[in-house]
Amino acid sequence: MSKNAKALAAQIKTIAGDAPVQIGMILGSGLGHIADAVDGVAIPYGDLPGFPHAGVSGHNPNLVIGDFEGVRVAVFGGRAHYYENGTADAMRLPLEVLRELGADRMIATNAAGSMLPDMPTGSIMCLSDHINFSGLNPLIGEPTDARFVPMNDAYDPAIRAALRAAADDADVAMADGVYAWYSGPSFETPAEIRAIKLLGADAVGMSTVPEVILARFLGLKAAAISTITNMAAGMSDESISHEHTKAMAPIGAAKLEKVLRGYLRGLA
Ligand code: HPA
Repeated sequence: MSKNAKALAAQIKTIAGDAPVQIGMILGSGLGHIADAVDGVAIPYGDLPGFPHAGVSGHNPNLVIGDFEGVRVAVFGGRAHYYENGTADAMRLPLEVLRELGADRMIATNAAGSMLPDMPTGSIMCLSDHINFSGLNPLIGEPTDARFVPMNDAYDPAIRAALRAAADDADVAMADGVYAWYSGPSFETPAEIRAIKLLGADAVGMSTVPEVILARFLGLKAAAISTITNMAAGMSDESISHEHTKAMAPIGAAKLEKVLRGYLRGLA
């Protein structure tokens, strides 16, 4: 773990208290309001040296630490994307800090385009696996053998089962599927979507995959849920834009929040 992560964790504990954090959550576009439901302390990323700028609209760049459904959580209200600065490892320091704060797991959320006609806008999808369609990797340049991270069951089967149980309990329909990481920031072409679909992806987005690789590298269990904000390019006449993503995210976000709350109640 970097010295910087240890120093930041110490700084955060002086503000938020020493009690160990159980779980980290990274919030995607239009999902930032979930941080407001946490009973705790919000620390702006700007007060945490080395934290990413995370300047995408629809994100809320605070680290919120506190109680959510009886569980001590660290909520990352903003994430840095590869397309902002061309760095795939921009979330490495926040995830190192999460580990230092005591967490053993993280759940990432994101907005994504769907490639499945029966998974329309407003659906949510639990990631079963991913395809790194970008070819980038946040561990390029990591000098140790720890960089050779196995990615079998990268999306932790036990967490996925618990999320599924929480969705069933809350009567929320949650699909299961493969997420493809596209670098962005332009959206995909219809031809790219046809290609990714042929490769086996069910949804596409511009985040999460580097975070899951980093989480596994750091020994954190990982899981992720997408909110479907649009049908992917060429799949329908629906408009595709960041504005549309932000406008549609709340439909899935309400379902996502129910699943997360149920999952946390099961952990408490
Ligand atoms: N493609 C990539 N990222 C996205 C999409 C999409 O269609 N929708 C929301 N985020």
